[in-house]
Amino acid sequence: MISPEIINKLFDIASIEEVVGEYVMLKRAGANYKGLCPFHDDKSPSMSVSPSKGIFKCFSCGQGGNIFQFIMEHEGLSYPLAIKHLADKYNVPIEEGQIDVTELKEEARVKEGVYACLEFARKYFYERLNESQDGKVVYKPYLLERGIAQQTIDTFSIGLSGTQRTDLLDEGLKNGYGAQQLYDAGLVKKINDAEGVIPSNLRDTFIERIVFPIFSVSGKVLGFGGRIIKKDTKAPKYLNSPETVVYEKRKELYGLSVGKNDIRLKDRAFLVEGYMDVVSLNQSGVENVIAASGTAFTEEQARLIKRFTHNITMLFDGDVAGVNASLKHIKTLLAADLNVEVALFPPDEDPDSFIQKRGTSAFKEYVTEKSQNFIGLIAEVTLGNQKNDPIKKAETARSIAENIAALPDPLKRAAFINETANLLQIPERVLIDEVNKFKQENRKQKEQEQRREERIQEKQNSSDTSSSYNYVPEFTSFTTAEALLVDKKSYQEQDLLKTLILFADQEFDEEHSVAEYIFKELQEEEIWPVSKEFETVFKDAYAYLLEHKMLNELYFIRNPSTSKMAAGILSQRHKLSPGWEDNFEKIVKTEDDNYKHQVVQNLNYLKLNHIEILMKENQEKMKCAETEQEVLHCQQYHAVLQEIRKKITDEIGTVIL
Ligand code: CTP
Ligand code: MN
Repeated sequence: MISPEIINKLFDIASIEEVVGEYVMLKRAGANYKGLCPFHDDKSPSMSVSPSKGIFKCFSCGQGGNIFQFIMEHEGLSYPLAIKHLADKYNVPIEEGQIDVTELKEEARVKEGVYACLEFARKYFYERLNESQDGKVVYKPYLLERGIAQQTIDTFSIGLSGTQRTDLLDEGLKNGYGAQQLYDAGLVKKINDAEGVIPSNLRDTFIERIVFPIFSVSGKVLGFGGRIIKKDTKAPKYLNSPETVVYEKRKELYGLSVGKNDIRLKDRAFLVEGYMDVVSLNQSGVENVIAASGTAFTEEQARLIKRFTHNITMLFDGDVAGVNASLKHIKTLLAADLNVEVALFPPDEDPDSFIQKRGTSAFKEYVTEKSQNFIGLIAEVTLGNQKNDPIKKAETARSIAENIAALPDPLKRAAFINETANLLQIPERVLIDEVNKFKQENRKQKEQEQRREERIQEKQNSSDTSSSYNYVPEFTSFTTAEALLVDKKSYQEQDLLKTLILFADQEFDEEHSVAEYIFKELQEEEIWPVSKEFETVFKDAYAYLLEHKMLNELYFIRNPSTSKMAAGILSQRHKLSPGWEDNFEKIVKTEDDNYKHQVVQNLNYLKLNHIEILMKENQEKMKCAETEQEVLHCQQYHAVLQEIRKKITDEIGTVIL
């Protein structure tokens, strides 16, 4: 249990604009603020923050909620941990028993344990490289031979793994780390698929490898990349840590923690392929360098690098693999509105070997000379010197158009189209058509993805607040018609909740607010929601209303089981109205002047569903009736129910078959 005192105190002192403003530049827009949404790659400010409601909403990706949801999403924390996070930040003391420490500890403990293991492993590996016999005689000389100096080994904390099967495991256990923790950290793996984590079933992930710790932006060890130096082996040259609770590969960039200041300073990042490239360039004084380490460059990585610069130069091998890799990365980078240049290295050279052989200034000259934008690159690799081959020319134009279509900025698109037209001697008109075709395709694809996500979201939402998909009635013979009925009923309950959230404190009639009226009806007509979570939501709200004599949207925004839904409903409404940015406040109150009608309709549907369930039950009973008396009774009851049903359907104005 989390004490409501803490939550309320935090709602009082931690304003939504301050909490969000910590991570996002907010600009005033009428009574609200807007800013770039941090939860998707936002091009223009899609996120609105309402100080009066205490909620944020993204109209593009749909994220929304109160201060706690924002922290949960942004920091990847559970609800109790998000509360603790804000309590610490705003110096709200937490007394014993105010937050359920068992739940809190469990999550924090796992992560903390994993971080501790990884840091322990980093130190152990580092010491082994520098102090063990193997390190001194075999591995350190290998690095020195390759031109890697001690200072660079220290900067990147390069180390040496164990050489036996369980060196790290043994050392970890000896130092008080649990087998489970080491396993969760990705440092050891199972040798068979026996259940559980038993030390005798484990062995080290990294054996006989030089290890490069992978750091988060803020410098925490997340995992390792390990290079084998033996030549006579089938093992892969590089081996990377698996994904863990702290290491999500698509979100990290190797070298960023070391290079970030220089990247900001130079306002450019060099993107290279490998660990050795990063390390070697850094040593030669080119410090603004990062690597995606073996994976394709992702949208998340693009967002990460954008915090430091918008300019990227890819430095890839000039071989087929390098060219293909750079072409694959380009689209992601362009779509993220990064300015991309590419400098290909001669075949058989990579940035590491080049700078080691020819030195820093030759390297810099080469990069300046060879840098070209994606149009130049694609023309070079697709067209080559067959400039007059019409088929090659069309192929090149199409490939360029596909990349231009990924650019979010229309001015940049226009400029690149112009450049391509000049380069390939193709009319601009034709290129524009081609770009538009790709844009349309992209849009279609995006819409499909969005719809898919929305469907998933909807399912989740409805099982969050209701249980339309989980609700299993007690009778065992369960016909399709009944299933449909149950499903329908849950939708009605959800609709009623939406109406309640939106209009709770509006006037319904002279004596009742909307909330008062709804609860009066639920009580008198005995039509309380039946699904478990729904029932709780309504009963809790009713209890609150009885205690405080008032209920408004604030209650639903602050209540953790409804806050996300509350923000969601509001954002859905706004999405429908083009003027939402300026009319944020007004829309909610005025968009639906019909709210009284809506209340009556929602309740009618609930009643109708109840009646239909009663009719079904009555019919079942009639089938099993043993005496004439019983049958007659059921028939009479059926007539009564039919009468009521007709009244309601007349009121709804719908014919229900
Ligand atoms: N890589 C990988 N797994 C492999 C091979 C490569 O993850 N089996 C990734 C590593 O991040 C590596 C990068 O791809 O750093 C580039 O690979 P490669 O060019 O083969 O290695 P170099 O970085 O050049 O390393 P070295 O110079 O030591 O050969
Ligand atoms: Mn190399």
